[in-house]
Formats: sequence, structure tokens, C-alpha cells
Amino acid sequence: KSRKRQLLYEVNEKVVTIFRRTLLASDMAKSARAYLEERKIPPAVQERFGLGYAPSPDSAGWNFLGAQLAAEEKLVAVEAGLLVEKESGGTYDRFRDRVLFPIYDRRGRVVGFGGRIIGEGQPKYMNSPESLVFNKSASLLGLYQQGDEIRRRRKAIVVEGNFDLVSLVVHGCPNVVAPLGTALTAQQLRMLKGFSEECVLLFDGDTAGVKAAMRSVPLFLSEQIAGKVALLPTGHDPDTFVREEGLAALNTLLDKAMPLPEFVLQQLVAEYGLTSYDGKIRIIKELQPLIKATTSPLQRSLMLSHFSEAIGISPDELGASMPGREATVR
Ligand code: GTP
Ligand code: MN
Ligand code: MN
Ligand code: MN
Ligand code: MN
Repeated sequence: KSRKRQLLYEVNEKVVTIFRRTLLASDMAKSARAYLEERKIPPAVQERFGLGYAPSPDSAGWNFLGAQLAAEEKLVAVEAGLLVEKESGGTYDRFRDRVLFPIYDRRGRVVGFGGRIIGEGQPKYMNSPESLVFNKSASLLGLYQQGDEIRRRRKAIVVEGNFDLVSLVVHGCPNVVAPLGTALTAQQLRMLKGFSEECVLLFDGDTAGVKAAMRSVPLFLSEQIAGKVALLPTGHDPDTFVREEGLAALNTLLDKAMPLPEFVLQQLVAEYGLTSYDGKIRIIKELQPLIKATTSPLQRSLMLSHFSEAIGISPDELGASMPGREATVR
């Protein structure tokens, strides 16, 4: 099994080289190079993230990658999801006409790929399927490259997208990582905890971004990581914001990041209102799972006093309305 893992790393690594060389030197990659230029990702940052290009079948056919691998490597590439088996026998390339982001583990081994289509099209992003070496919920894009900066700055900034990650690095905000288009997981938070105590969520300024931040709150509480949320103006994501407004504006926004419990309360108050009895009941109901997820007694007690003050009941009463644990901390 460890032999098999080794082979997967080796073939993934070889494929990084192939796609990288294609991006840098092939005539087929003109549109990809123009796309990255248009998105303001300079060659040095492309290099840092190992970006590559899987060419279009229009110019390269459906067996571009397959044709460059030996028979044994092709078997491994099928396992890795780089090649797809046809019912009629043979294989074809999974990634076509996409800019590819290698996904590295903590030790710098390539575990999979994420690919963005050039320009418009569906699906916009495509990731490698999970394999013996690739577990999506335990992978963080950028952690290998930017982990040192996260340590140095004692803060991890979590963004949603691949281009948010590279764009922030381009613009001088280097302590950044991105989950692979999915919700943040407990495993990813634990990985981050090894690098910094503080984590700022910088999600897209849309309802999906707010929802994603809200969903991650119980994880922060149960993993006991100090989470904050920085809110982008509606319609922006970190990439468009830093490009249009610049690093200073981004830093201002990050400095104003709100601790998660405050953010949650603000969102709930905005949604249900504190003026009506029903609103308060709804808010208390929504707070229950959060209080429940809190593993630290101190944190629980702080949250109860913070929330109860806003709602206008006593911390004891609020605690008593929460199922599960003891009402108050002594
Ligand atoms: P750009 O248009 O390249 O700037 O994309 P984005 O990063 O702003 O995309 P968006 O905010 O829509 O999504 C955030 C992240 O979710 C992306 O970076 C991807 O990792 C993931 N994602 C978005 N669309 C898809 C998709 O169609 N399929 C999959 N598997 N993941 C997606
Ligand atoms: Mn989208
Ligand atoms: Mn989005
Ligand atoms: Mn974007
Ligand atoms: Mn986005």
C-alpha cells in the first residue's frame, strides 16, 4: 500500500512537470498564458504554485497526457483520476483546456489537482477525485507554500477560491490558504492550528460567503480556535477586492475582522430582529447548537454573557435554555 502511495506521488509529480512545461512553452497554451496575464498572476507566482495547463482536445486530442505516460504510469494515473477509462478500453484525459493548480500536502507531495476552465464554461472548477493519497477534507490549497508566512504572521487568512489565494499572494498578503471549494472542515482547522492560533475567514461578499462563515462557527468552537470574520463588500471576492482597492484597503478590512460569536449574533439579529418576542426565541434557538459545540468552559461562559446581554435575559436563564451541558460554569 505504501508502494502504491509512492507511485501516486511520483506520477502526480511527473504530471505537474508536463502541465507546467506545456503552460510555459507550448503554442497550445497561448490562451492560458493570456488568461493568467489578464488575471494578473505574474510568472513568479505561477511558478510558486506550480501552475500548469492541460491543453484543449481541439489542439491536443483526448490523449495528450496519456500519450506521455508509460503503461504502468497510466494505471497509476487512472487511480489518481488523471486519466478516465473508456468502456471500449483505453483512456482519455480528465483535465482538458484548464489551468491546473497542483494540490500539495504538508510535505510538498502532490496529492491531486484543481483545474479552472479558461474563460467561461461549466464546470468552472474541477478537482481530482479522492484517492489513496488525496483526501479533500484534509487538504488546504496553499498551506505548503504559505505555511511559513502563516506562522510568521501568527494568523491564517482563509479564502474560498484558488484565485483568491494566488491573488492575495501577488498583492502582498501571503498568510493565506483555501479549502478546495468545499466548506471548511474540522481536519483543516486542526491543520491550521499547527501553524497559528488565529484564523480569519475572508469569504466572498455574497450570501453563500456569509452562510459558509456561519456554518464553520461550530467547528471553531469545538476545535477551540479563535476565529474571526472579515466581510467583503457585496459582489467582491478577495481577488477582485485586492485588485480594485489594493493591499491597504484589504488590511483595513482584515483589522476590523469580527470574532465569530459577535458575527453570529450580528447575523441572527439582522435576520430575526430583537424587537419581537418571536425574534428572540428564534435567535436563542439558533444559538443553542453553538453553545453546545463549545468545548471550553471559559468560552461557553463568555458566549453566554455576550449573547444574553444582547438578548436581554440573564446568562443563567440563557444557559438554562440550552440543552446538553450544565447551565453555568462555576
Ligand atoms: P474565479 O471565477 O476563478 O475567480 O472563481 P472563484 O474562486 O471566485 O469561484 P467561486 O467564488 O465561484 O468559488 C470558490 C471556489 O469554489 C473555487 O475556487 C473552487 O475551488 C470552487 N468551485 C467553484 N465553482 C466550482 C465548480 O463548478 N466545481 C467545483 N468542483 N468547485 C467549484
Ligand atoms: Mn460561484
Ligand atoms: Mn462565491
Ligand atoms: Mn473570483
Ligand atoms: Mn469567488
